[in-house]
Amino acid sequence: MAAFTFLFLSVFLFALLVNAADLYKVLDIDRAASEKDIRAAYKRLSRKYHPDKNKEEGAEEKFVEVAHAYEVLSDPQKRQIYDRHGEEGLKMHEGGGQHHANPFDMFQNFFGGGHPGGAQTRKGPTSLLEMEINLADMYTGASIDFSVKKRILCDHCRGSGAASSSDIHTCTGCNGQGVKIMRQQIFPGMFSQSQVTCNECGGRGKVIKRQCPHCQGAKVLDHTQRLTLEVPRGSPEGHEIVFEGEADENPDWEAGDILIRVKSKTVKGGFRRKESGLYWKETISVDEALLGFERNITHLDGHTVELKRNSVTQPGFVQTIKGEGMPIYEGTGYGDLYVEYNVILPNKLSPQLRKQLTDVFRGDKSGKAGKDEL
Ligand SMILES: *[C@@H]1O[C@H](CO)[C@@H](O)[C@H](O)[C@H]1NC(C)=O
Ligand SMILES: [Zn+2]
Ligand SMILES: [Zn+2]
Repeated sequence: MAAFTFLFLSVFLFALLVNAADLYKVLDIDRAASEKDIRAAYKRLSRKYHPDKNKEEGAEEKFVEVAHAYEVLSDPQKRQIYDRHGEEGLKMHEGGGQHHANPFDMFQNFFGGGHPGGAQTRKGPTSLLEMEINLADMYTGASIDFSVKKRILCDHCRGSGAASSSDIHTCTGCNGQGVKIMRQQIFPGMFSQSQVTCNECGGRGKVIKRQCPHCQGAKVLDHTQRLTLEVPRGSPEGHEIVFEGEADENPDWEAGDILIRVKSKTVKGGFRRKESGLYWKETISVDEALLGFERNITHLDGHTVELKRNSVTQPGFVQTIKGEGMPIYEGTGYGDLYVEYNVILPNKLSPQLRKQLTDVFRGDKSGKAGKDEL
C-alpha cells in the first residue's frame, strides 16, 4: 500500500515536471511523424523505461514523460493544439489543471493487458504484392527500390477530417454515443426498443462543421511511398518480405502490412531455376558435337563458367557442373548447373564440303569403315 502511494505521488509530480520537455524529443521523433511512428516510439520507449524492468535512476521519470508525450501526440486533436499552442494551449483546452492518464494503465492498455476497448486499435488488412525480380538479384542478393501507391492520413488534419479541432463537435443526435434508442410501437400499448447506429454522425459520435481544406474531409490522401526490398542471397521462389505497417493508413485502424512475394523473371535464352539448380541451354555445331569444344558462358554475377567437352556430345545431352547453381538459401555452398546441349546442322552443304564429308563417312563408294571408326 505504501509503495502504491509513493508511486502515485511520484507519478503526479513527474507529470508536472514533464511539461517543459518537447514531446517530440521525448519520443525521439520528428514533428512530421506519422501515427504509426508515434505508436512505434511509444512501444519501444515505454518498454525500455518501465520501472519493472529498468531499475536505473531516472527510468521512471522517463517512463512517465514518454507516457505523457504519447497521450498527447497520439490524439490528433491534442496534437494539433500542442503543435500550435504548446503545453499552455493544452492546459487551456482542458480547462486549467491538466489531467494526465495514469502511465501504468496506459502501458497496460497499449500492450493489451486484457483491456478491451483500451488504447489498442484494430489493425488494417495486409496487402499482398507479387514482384518479379531478376534472377541475378536472387543469385547475389540485392536491395531493390520500388514505390507503392497508398493512402496516408492527411497531414493537415491528421486524419480527423476537420479544418481545425474546434470544428469537431459532439453529435447532438446521439450525444456522442454513436447510437440512438428507437422506440417502436408494435401493438397498441406495446413498445419495442432497439439500438440503431446514429444516422447523423454515422456512429462516430462526432460531427465535423468545417471540413479540412487539404483532404476535403476525406481524412486520407494518396501518396507514393518509396520502399527498399532486401532480397536475400539465394532467395527462394515465392519468398515473402513483410513491410510492417506500410499498407493504407486510416484513422480507424492501425495500418496493416505490405507483403511482397518475390519470384524470378523468366528471360528467354537466360538461366532458369528450379530450387537450388540452374538450367542453361547451349547450342553447338556439328563439328563441336563430334570433335569436342571449349566455350565460356557468363554466369548471373558476371563470372565465367567454362564448358568443355572432349568427345561426342549427343543432342539433348545434359552436363552437370557442380557448384554453379544457386546459392543455398540460409546455408552454405551452391546447387548445381545443368547445361543442355542442342546441336544444329548446317542448312546447306557446299559441293566441296559434301565431297569431304562423303570421303570421311563413306570412304570409297562401297565401304562403311569410316563410319564405324567414329
Ligand atoms: C574462357 O575464359 C578463360 C578465362 O576466364 C580464358 O582463359 C579462356 O581462353 C576462355 N575460353 C574461351 C573459349 O573463350
Ligand atoms: Zn450521432
Ligand atoms: Zn485533412
